[in-house]
Amino acid sequence: MLTLVLLVASACTVVLARPSLNYLEEPYATESTQAGSEEVRSAAIKRLLAVFGMDDPPAAVTHRRKQPPQYMLDLYNTVADVDGVTKDPYLLEGNTVRSFFDKLRSEQVEFRFNLSTVARTEKILTAELHLFKLRPQATLMFNRHHFYQVSVYQLLDTTKTNTTQMRKLLSSRLIPVHSNGWEVFTITQAVRSWMVDEGNNLGLHVVVQTLGGSHMDLKLIRFASGRNHHQSKQPMLVLFTDDGQRRSTTLESADPDTQVTAILAQSPMAAPTSSRSARSLDHLAEEEGVSMPCRRLPLYVDFDEIGWSGWIVSPRGYNAYHCKGSCPFPLGQNMRPTNHATVQSIINALKLIKSIETPCCVPDKLFSINLLYFDDDENVVLKQYNDMVAGSCGCH
Ligand SMILES: *[C@@H]1O[C@H](CO)[C@@H](O)[C@H](O)[C@H]1NC(C)=O
Ligand SMILES: *[C@@H]1O[C@H](CO)[C@@H](O)[C@H](O)[C@H]1NC(C)=O
Repeated sequence: MLTLVLLVASACTVVLARPSLNYLEEPYATESTQAGSEEVRSAAIKRLLAVFGMDDPPAAVTHRRKQPPQYMLDLYNTVADVDGVTKDPYLLEGNTVRSFFDKLRSEQVEFRFNLSTVARTEKILTAELHLFKLRPQATLMFNRHHFYQVSVYQLLDTTKTNTTQMRKLLSSRLIPVHSNGWEVFTITQAVRSWMVDEGNNLGLHVVVQTLGGSHMDLKLIRFASGRNHHQSKQPMLVLFTDDGQRRSTTLESADPDTQVTAILAQSPMAAPTSSRSARSLDHLAEEEGVSMPCRRLPLYVDFDEIGWSGWIVSPRGYNAYHCKGSCPFPLGQNMRPTNHATVQSIINALKLIKSIETPCCVPDKLFSINLLYFDDDENVVLKQYNDMVAGSCGCH
C-alpha cells in the first residue's frame, strides 16, 4: 500500500519535478521504503525537518518553565490563524522574527544579546531593542521635568577602531516621565555590525538625560531589568530577518511537499481523525472499481505525534491537506486543468501514444504556515514556511 502510494506520487512528481532543492536531491528509493516502517519514519522526519530548514530538532525545552514573550505570541496571532496558516502574506517583510533576552542581566542599563543562533545567510532587515518602562516612583511626581531623553548606544571596542570613541549613538527619543510600558528603539546598524564580527558585540548602553542634557537619576527613571523584574518585562531584542528561503507560490514547488506528506499520510504518526472517513470512502470506491475524481482531502500533521511538541509553541499541528483522485477524460473546469493537462488527457483517452498516463491530481494553490518555536538557545522564533498547505487541487 505504502509503496503503491509512493509510486503514484513519484509518477506525478516527474511531471513537475524541479531540481536544486537540497532535500530533494536523493529521491526516495522504493526499496528502502520496503525495508521497515521505522526507517521510513526516521527518514521522513529527517526530510520534514529539512522542509522546516533544520538539520536536527532544537534541544527540546523539557521543563517548560520558560514562557514565550507576549510580544512574540501577539505577533504570531497577528500573522497566523489558529492552524498557523498565514492570514496576510504581506504583513511581515521577511520570513523570520527572532527574540533574544538580555544575557548581561546587569544592574546598569547595559544589555548584551547572544545572536549565535542567527544564520550567516540571514539578511538582517530590522532590529529593535524593547525596554519596559516602569511607573515613576512617587517622589518623582513633583519633578519639574515632563519629558526626558533616552539614548541607546552601541558599545565599541576602542582597540579595534581607530578612534577613541567608546560608543556610537543608535537611537534617541523623548519619552514622557509618567509613561509606563514598552519602548522600542531601532538598533539595526549595531546588529549588522555584530553579524559581520561577533567580537564586535560588546552590548548596548542606555543613557537617560533631561532636556538640558544633564544626567537623570536612574533610580527615578527606571526600565525593567532581567535581574530584578518579572520575566514578562525583560529587556528583549527583536530581530526581523529573511533567510532567503521564501519561494514563490508556484505550481512547480507543489510536489516536494506532496511527496513528504504522502509518506506522513501512510505512516502511523499521522492523525487521520477526519481523513479516516474519507479514506474508507476511497476504499469503498476502489472496491467497486470506481475511482474518485481529483479532490482535496484532509491531512493533519500532528507535531505532538511526530515528537516535536517540546520545542514548538504553536501551532500544535496543521492541516496540510492532500490531493487525491483521478483525472480522467473529459476534464471539467472543476478539475482546474491546465491546457497541457487537457491535451494530455485527450491523448490518453484516444490512446494515440502508448504510455501516456492521465494527468496528475496535485495541489495547484499553496499557502504558507507559521511556526512559533524555541531554538537551541531557548530563544523564541517565529518563522514562515511557504507552500505548506494545499489550498486547492487540480489536474496538471
Ligand atoms: C552564545 O551562545 C552560544 C550557544 O549557546 C555559546 O556557545 C556562545 O559561547 C555564546 N557566546 C557568548 C559571547 O556568550
Ligand atoms: C588608523 O589610522 C592611521 C593613521 O591615522 C592609519 O594609518 C591606519 O591605516 C588606520 N587604521 C585603520 C584600521 O583604519
